[in-house]
Amino acid sequence: MDRITKDQLIQDYKNLFFDNFQIKPDIASIAPGRVNIIGEHTDYNFGLAMPIAINKWIVSLLSERSDNKVYIYSVNYNKRISFNLNDLNNSNELWEKYVKSTIHVISKKYNFNNGFNILIGGNIPIGFGMSSSAALEVSIVSAILYKCFNKYDKHEILKICNEVETKILGIKSGMLDQYASIFSIGKKFLLIDFNSITHEYFNSNIKNSSWLLVNSMVSRDLVNSEYNIRVSECKEGLDLVNKSTKKNISLSALTFNDIEVIKNNKKLYNRLLHVYYENQRVKKMKEEILNGNLNNIGELLLESHCSLSKNYEVSCDEIDFIISISKKHPGFIGGRIMGGGFGGCTINLVKDNLKEDFILFLKNQFYNEYKTGIEVEEFSFSDGSHILTNL
Ligand code: GLA
Repeated sequence: MDRITKDQLIQDYKNLFFDNFQIKPDIASIAPGRVNIIGEHTDYNFGLAMPIAINKWIVSLLSERSDNKVYIYSVNYNKRISFNLNDLNNSNELWEKYVKSTIHVISKKYNFNNGFNILIGGNIPIGFGMSSSAALEVSIVSAILYKCFNKYDKHEILKICNEVETKILGIKSGMLDQYASIFSIGKKFLLIDFNSITHEYFNSNIKNSSWLLVNSMVSRDLVNSEYNIRVSECKEGLDLVNKSTKKNISLSALTFNDIEVIKNNKKLYNRLLHVYYENQRVKKMKEEILNGNLNNIGELLLESHCSLSKNYEVSCDEIDFIISISKKHPGFIGGRIMGGGFGGCTINLVKDNLKEDFILFLKNQFYNEYKTGIEVEEFSFSDGSHILTNL
């Protein structure tokens, strides 16, 4: 388990930056990963979700150059790349593509001639649904906007990151990950409405239990997953409803009766049903977290999992196994697959006094079934992205 603190991370990277570029960084831009309590595959459907930033970060340290070159050192991949600001197209690896696409979108909106030295590193596991790529985008956009234009406009950072994903990388994703990374505040719970692009914060009254991530170690990336197909299926389902009802309803306004109209098309019906009930679960979850009602919270998590697995079909055998075995342990309150799906993590609420026993039980059961290990990640909630100067 990676328990490194943010300060340690920045200190280590400051030294590495100097070793690599023989100069001190001007700024550090910190962007956290996120968990999502509930509200999955609702963001691009203009619905509701409840993500929160966690104490795992991508950190970009940056200094401005006097020429138009960009030199990047990736600590996690231990790789160095360099390119001109006017040559942002060719990338060999996915992380490189994310970095170049991000700089590309910023350079189309803002004029800057000077390049940068950038060190990128972090402790968010890559490819397991904790939003390492969104955090990477947020940290680079924030760093460049702050350094070059003295600007830290959260909505503008969100918009640029979304353009990177949808217009350049071709992922039809919503804004869940970047929103959480940018707007989270410490221990507050965050509820986002993607229809109005607004959010609210509230306090948790959950007691004597902890949130745990169980990492199935089944890796996936959104670029190559069925994610885009789900986005299209929801649009198709909505079109079908509108055609059949001769209405012009938006996804956020769909009622149960509207969806019933396409019952014959089982697949699209199930997709919309998931979105409809998941939005309701987000609203109920807020009430139950405010009340601290563990049983009801657990039920909502399990209902969400069932819907993601059966109606939305974004789970996989390993994850379904983790949830069904977890249910057999007395310490398990509830849990579900988290993030884009097709692998990655489950998020679980577990009783504090039985936590260690639960972790051991789950690891053993999973090993017996698949002969491979899982990892359990404990985390705490953290503040959203920010910039440090005076390094
Ligand atoms: C991924 C995407 C998000 C969101 C989730 C599913 O994490 O990046 O925009 O759609 O999947 O809720």
